[in-house]
Amino acid sequence: MNDKLTQLCKEIEKFQTENLEELDRFRLKFLGKKGELTTLFDDIRSIPAEERKTFGQNVNHLKNLVQEKIQQLKNAIEAKQTTTIEKIDTTCPANSIELGSRHPVSVVRKQIYDVFEKIGFVVADGPEIEDDWHLFNALNFPPEHPARDMQDTFFVEKDPDIALRTHTSSIQIRVMEKQKPPIRVICPGRTYRNEVITARSHCMFHQIEGLYIDKNVSFADMKQTLLHFAKEMFGTETNIRLRPSYFPFTEPSAEMDITCGICKGKGCNLCKNSGWVEILGCGMVDPNVLRNMNIDPNEYSGFAFGMGIERITQVLYKTKDIRLFFENDLRFLKQFQAI
Ligand code: PHE
Repeated sequence: MNDKLTQLCKEIEKFQTENLEELDRFRLKFLGKKGELTTLFDDIRSIPAEERKTFGQNVNHLKNLVQEKIQQLKNAIEAKQTTTIEKIDTTCPANSIELGSRHPVSVVRKQIYDVFEKIGFVVADGPEIEDDWHLFNALNFPPEHPARDMQDTFFVEKDPDIALRTHTSSIQIRVMEKQKPPIRVICPGRTYRNEVITARSHCMFHQIEGLYIDKNVSFADMKQTLLHFAKEMFGTETNIRLRPSYFPFTEPSAEMDITCGICKGKGCNLCKNSGWVEILGCGMVDPNVLRNMNIDPNEYSGFAFGMGIERITQVLYKTKDIRLFFENDLRFLKQFQAI
């Protein structure tokens, strides 16, 4: 019996824990209803009378040992918990949660949507990886047109028929395939061209194309729509001018300039001292394109226009370097508020 007591004594002395649940298990093991010491107390009756006193004293000693141990470990655990709690300085100001803002391209795209949606245009979408038909053929590009050249277009390897879209004009084809006139859409999207990255050009940018097809749509309608857009976007005092140009899918074609908002025509860096800033390409949809889409050019006519969103943003917010739009520098991006 004494061996058992010595062994229990060692066990109690050796026991260590930092865990309250484990400590409770320890308590139950010794002092619980069926615990080691409780059974030993029950055994007292069966011990010969002359040994009973010493045995009783020994068991009592063990009981005290267990109780002391429990108290001591409990104190240690509680002390540790309070020190961890005290380490948190509740008077410290919380870390501020930084508010994000919309990317300038998204901000300006929304502004452009707002202008055109008010006059009945709806947004249409299309894929960024396009086939030759939607990018060039249906848009009346002659086979030898330089845009079809590897130098301008990113072709998807192995298949010369598939490329990253060079303009969002491919969406107008997709719309005309599905929908009969009247058509009034704006087609936003990311576009890719194989160009050297400089302050003025990038291999990736964003465009918005517009397409309007109905009976009796004239060049004057186009000019008026674009004048309305320029005034809404850049201020009511803004004026426009159209310069003859060439696009395979429009005839006649034009480039549109707006009066320079910075120098008001006096001449500055933005307008290269001309007083005019170029912002978009436009023209009357070429009858060949309408024919490709099974739309009768004798019955319907229309106009299209296309602009770079980065370009519009540059003119609107006077940013100088197109690379800023793709570098994710927060100092630049934070200047544009979510709208
Ligand atoms: N697709 C032309 C471009 O990428 C822009 C454009 C669109 C011109 C529609 C005329 C009509 O430059």
